[in-house]
Amino acid sequence: MRAKLVAANWKMNGSFSLLDKMLDVLRPNMGNTSCQVVICPPHVLLSSLNNAVEGTGIEVGAQNVHSELSGAFTGETSAILLKECGAQWCIVGHSERRMLFDESDEFIRSKTETLLNHGIRPILCVGESLEQRDSGTHEEVVVAQLRKGLSGLTAEDQSRCVVAYEPIWAIGTGKTATPEQANSMHTIIRKELESLASPEVAANIQILYGGSVNVENAESLLSQSEIDGALVGGASLKTDDFSQIVAAGL
Ligand code: 13P
Repeated sequence: MRAKLVAANWKMNGSFSLLDKMLDVLRPNMGNTSCQVVICPPHVLLSSLNNAVEGTGIEVGAQNVHSELSGAFTGETSAILLKECGAQWCIVGHSERRMLFDESDEFIRSKTETLLNHGIRPILCVGESLEQRDSGTHEEVVVAQLRKGLSGLTAEDQSRCVVAYEPIWAIGTGKTATPEQANSMHTIIRKELESLASPEVAANIQILYGGSVNVENAESLLSQSEIDGALVGGASLKTDDFSQIVAAGL
């Protein structure tokens, strides 16, 4: 049985004070939920988050990493340092990184490998554009991203990854994939994982949905058989909304 996982992707938002407020709201409810909760704030907040979540069960995630471990990469952060800041998770392959920062599947794959080598679990994002969905190529696009993102990894390493299906047309648009659309893509992803890793590994990998998840739609999405959680953007910046989304993952 896969546990539900709800992760907050704050993107380039949030503050030290939002962190305090968010934890004040989440902390009292952590005892009542079996849902895993991960918060991925900007890097500069990671250490504070790590100190503040001690004993709560809330987990610490980063939003990005470089594939190299050190060197002349101004502005980048290594997996070693993320680990020192307490990161247990890191998002890779987000469509904003693919599009705005030109990240290739190869770069994403090497980041995934670096994270795994340093004990940080990757949340590998995949998802198609509206154009690709309209032209009917969405399934092959997502499968190709998945194959390239996980290529060359052992089944054991793949078992430590979480996949997030985030259709680009649903991100920040208020336009959510229907629970059926999401569930159907998750089924395809799991089937592909069966051949990439093994049926056993595929059965245990958590597949999250991301794209305009909010208080109104969380329950119907999270009740789908193949949807194991959510990667939440905008709504994860609102303390009460995020807490209610976590509650929907009970
Ligand atoms: P929104 O929830 O704001 O649509 O963002 C989704 C996302 O990109 C999470 O990684």
